[in-house]
Amino acid sequence: SDIEKGTYPYYMLKEIDDQPTVMRRVVQEYTDSFGETVINQEIIDHVTDSDRIYIIACGTSYNAGWVGKAIIEKMTNTPVEVHLSSEFGYNMPLLSEKPFFIFLSQSGETADSRQVLVQANEFSYPSLTLTNVAGSTLSREADYTLLLHAGPEIAVASTKAYTAQIAVLAVLAKAVGDHKGNQSSLDFDIAHELSVIAAVMETMIDEKMVISQLVEDYLATTRNAFYIGRGVDYYVSMEASLKLKEISYIQAEGFAAGELKHGTIALIEEGTPVFGVVTDKKTAAHTRGNLKEVESRGAHNFVISLQSLAKETDQVIIPDVHPLLTPLVSIIPTQLIAYFATLQRGYDVDKPRNLAKSVTVE
Ligand code: G6P
Repeated sequence: SDIEKGTYPYYMLKEIDDQPTVMRRVVQEYTDSFGETVINQEIIDHVTDSDRIYIIACGTSYNAGWVGKAIIEKMTNTPVEVHLSSEFGYNMPLLSEKPFFIFLSQSGETADSRQVLVQANEFSYPSLTLTNVAGSTLSREADYTLLLHAGPEIAVASTKAYTAQIAVLAVLAKAVGDHKGNQSSLDFDIAHELSVIAAVMETMIDEKMVISQLVEDYLATTRNAFYIGRGVDYYVSMEASLKLKEISYIQAEGFAAGELKHGTIALIEEGTPVFGVVTDKKTAAHTRGNLKEVESRGAHNFVISLQSLAKETDQVIIPDVHPLLTPLVSIIPTQLIAYFATLQRGYDVDKPRNLAKSVTVE
């Protein structure tokens, strides 16, 4: 069954491996044989009618929300804000006239997110929960639910729920964009693009041993590490560093590459590992410039790039995919980096100290 570890040493590794299957399942569940999206029309109407979408989430789901924002804004032309539940609940920003709330929660049980939903319900704002757990609290209490269909996620560090959330948000964005007749959406063949993603994910997962070796060289003993990128590569950097810190206990941070020079670059020492994510054509040269800057201050650079933007010296090169969906594949090597760093440092991959899979207290 889905929750058997089988021959895997850890659930996390199994769940990383599950991701191509999850992408194909999202295509099956949410598109028809013509490649058209299959999403409850009421949800589409609410989103179409809304003047601003508020994505509310915690942890990895929050990081998925940022990628979702980039996709939704492009497809639908509706502005999207992404908020941490624990901040939004007590410091609610001024809302637009017609807000639409999207709660992202793997478990559907996160108390911080629920307290925002309770407030949204008091104002009768329309709401949707994306969750992996049918019948969960956030699913029951929101107006609508879209299931992630990722299968049970057991490891505390979330992997396949992150990619499933992005994929389902992309389907939703496509459904709304098509409904609005937006050309960028009509031109986006989501079923095809997600199938390409599944295949490229497999390619990346097959490079496990390469990643394991790189990690041994870069992360076996370091105290800290940084991920940098711009745009969606920055959003991936935030999730990549969260993954690394939560299980390997390396102090890891994700930074907007252009911000480095405004402070963070002070942290770079001889040998500090810096991972650059380079998948966005319009910012690739800038991020490479930032990588040069840290390298000249002693950083040990490690570049994850898209084939069409790659340099021979890059450590991980990803076959090209649709530009809006690159996070679904660039995240894979970073999940493996976190996994192998944790193994090599001798910690329990699936059960990091101080963390719980689902946090039901505020
Ligand atoms: C906990 C988990 C994280 C997760 C976060 C949000 O802190 O350890 O991995 O991202 O909760 O969980 P949710 O179920 O709401 O996505």
